Amino acid sequence: MIVNPFNIILITGGLGFIGSNFIRYILSTEKGVKIINLDSMTYAGNPKNLAEIEHEYPGRYTFIKGDICDQKSVEKIFQENVPDAVINFAAESHVDRSIEDPNVFIKTNVLGTATLLNTARKCWKDFFNNKRFLQVSTDEVYGTLPEDKPEIKFTETTPLNPHSPYSASKTSADLIAKSFFDTFGFPVLITRCSNNYGPYQFPEKLIPLMISKAMNNEKLPVYGDGLNVRDWLYVEDHCSAILTVLKKGKTGEVYNIGGNCEIQNIEIVKMILDSLNKPHSLINYVQDRLGHDRRYAIDATKIKNELGWEPAYCFGEKIKDTIQWYVENQNWVSSIIDGSYQK
Ligand code: NAD
Ligand code: DAU
Repeated sequence: MIVNPFNIILITGGLGFIGSNFIRYILSTEKGVKIINLDSMTYAGNPKNLAEIEHEYPGRYTFIKGDICDQKSVEKIFQENVPDAVINFAAESHVDRSIEDPNVFIKTNVLGTATLLNTARKCWKDFFNNKRFLQVSTDEVYGTLPEDKPEIKFTETTPLNPHSPYSASKTSADLIAKSFFDTFGFPVLITRCSNNYGPYQFPEKLIPLMISKAMNNEKLPVYGDGLNVRDWLYVEDHCSAILTVLKKGKTGEVYNIGGNCEIQNIEIVKMILDSLNKPHSLINYVQDRLGHDRRYAIDATKIKNELGWEPAYCFGEKIKDTIQWYVENQNWVSSIIDGSYQK
């Protein structure tokens, strides 16, 4: 079944990295759709990510500052706008921060998701025809893979085995979402994606952090031996996959999304240094992340075979564009580093 068109979509966490890329993507590709962006503007929510959007798409974009954990605010949005679909990007998303302070991860990622699900169910009054709730999840719910068995990848039936407080909170959210489908027939879709890269990523994550440090001739902190592997996907490919699942996915199902692009961290760091003509002597091996997952790799056969989605971009090309974007948008990075983006 193809559900289309959606008139109003409630996006949560739309001032973050993937949410802001998604809002730009959907407004440019789906002509009739209106977006409500609910974001509490944590440190990761940056209004500059969507600075011109209201002018570019007049009447099609509304921003509401609010917390997905706040049931009253969420109810009010549902009553005033009656969205046809919800896409939940809002989350605490950085593994290192979850090791420092797990509680906010449990609050936003678990309670926040539960609040959204429950409010949507009540406001849609159990009349779910053509309604959809897409939970944006992560490959980290599956845990880690052996590096000496490249043929093994995460499939949608791989047992859930998260290791960090971040991934455990995302796993809990997935299970609550699934329980709403199993119990109420609530129209949930779950996507589990691998590591994204591209413009507007907060410079605490590997790629923008290393670009920013290299540009300033600072040391690049590589955790452990640098041989951990991630499966990289350009953010616009993630956006197109989410839209495909929203329109064509079967409710109650999980869809893995990946770039079929496994790379060791140290290779990425060297690529960035080479591309910026900086010496490898800037590499600084530091203490490993606690509980550091060794390898992630997504088997995206299901979304390809059932929904016809495949990544459009290759890493070699898009990492160059991404580095160039950060070079050309140093003001965006420096406003985060000096804190002025929050004023
Ligand atoms: P991000 O940290 O860049 O953005 C998160 C956004 O959520 C911010 O705008 C923040 O202000 C908002 N937010 C946080 N708590 C909120 C709350 N309680 N109420 C409302 N808004 C709140 O994250 P991202 O990298 O864009 O990731 C988006 C989603 O995609 C997350 O759910 C993450 O788990 C998932 N994901 C990310 C990746 C990746 O590589 N970045 C890969 C797979 C899945
Ligand atoms: O796999 C999907 C996940 O990818 C998402 O669910 C998360 O929201 C997203 O943050 C990302 O998690 P990672 O932990 O994989 O991303 P991060 O950029 O933090 O780290 C990537 C790899 O680089 C990881 O092996 C740790 C390493 N690293 C990271 C940082 C910040 C370093 O070696 N040095 C660093 O300074």
